[in-house]
Amino acid sequence: MQHHIPVMLKESIEYLNPQKGKYFIDCTLGAGGYSFAILNKVAPSGKVLSIDLDQKTIENAKNKIKKTKFKNNLILVNDNFKNLSNIAEKHFKHKKVDGIIFDLGLSSDQLLDKDRGFSFQNTNSPLNMDFDNNDSDKTKFIVNNYPEKELVKILKNYGQERFAKKIAKEIVFFRKRKEIKTVGQLVKIIKKSMPVKFRYSRIHFATRSFQALRIATNNELENLELALSQAINLLKKKGKIIVISYHSLEDRIVKHFFKDHQNLCKIITKKPIVPSDEEVVKNHSSRSAKMRVCEYLGL
Ligand SMILES: C[S@@+](CC[C@H](N)C(=O)[O-])C[C@H]1O[C@@H](n2cnc3c(N)ncnc32)[C@H](O)[C@@H]1O
Repeated sequence: MQHHIPVMLKESIEYLNPQKGKYFIDCTLGAGGYSFAILNKVAPSGKVLSIDLDQKTIENAKNKIKKTKFKNNLILVNDNFKNLSNIAEKHFKHKKVDGIIFDLGLSSDQLLDKDRGFSFQNTNSPLNMDFDNNDSDKTKFIVNNYPEKELVKILKNYGQERFAKKIAKEIVFFRKRKEIKTVGQLVKIIKKSMPVKFRYSRIHFATRSFQALRIATNNELENLELALSQAINLLKKKGKIIVISYHSLEDRIVKHFFKDHQNLCKIITKKPIVPSDEEVVKNHSSRSAKMRVCEYLGL
């Protein structure tokens, strides 16, 4: 069963304005919220190319599409969007597209998956925060092998965690005796590193560390920069790039990227679009979303 509710779907579709015969790329298929909404508008003559690193999302979408009349209009690719140019070239040849959307981060389905370690609530889950749904040991490797200094950097830079030094120290102390294998072990270590009053604040005490480790595991910031610079070259004149991000590090990259490319793109959203209060009430996961849009000016 899929739990993910697409964020700002109505707004995204309004900006993308998909119409019959048009071509789009969804760089983060997830549960397919955007892909299917776009597909219904562009088919039967248009196409949607949807990418996701997580094989499960591809399988789910395959099952959903196979009995429908639009099955030939959706191309599903299990890959990293950092390879966007090659993927587009392989499937769309040299055809330029009308819009490219990124809905960053992870889906609710991934968060709830007990075989993965994205949620600090799933204490028995393995320390695996790789979007790629394999038995990757990357997160576990980082936690158990990276030098203390590197851990501090990750927790500080990617999680803006004020107790980064203490947490890194505690991780190193613990791992000397025993390998850190589960979410629960890491949560305990983080808790122990915090002054008591910070263990009970509004935001769960492990939130920042988990975000930081997830970003480091997946090279999220580097991949986003790589993909954005490729996306621009794939657009038709007036084609749009939409990026929905969920933390300030990603949003900053998008904001600067659009600013730095104003010779090629018009910034449509001077300020980021955020979900309505009504949407946040209905879908709590949307609360930190920020959407930015730019339009390719054409050469
Ligand atoms: C927020 S979810 C997308 C949800 C989707 N828009 C929907 O409405 O169902 C983000 C998705 O992006 C995927 N993802 C994250 N980084 C990726 C990358 N570098 N390349 C490809 N997919 C990625 C994740 O696996 C996840 O499925």
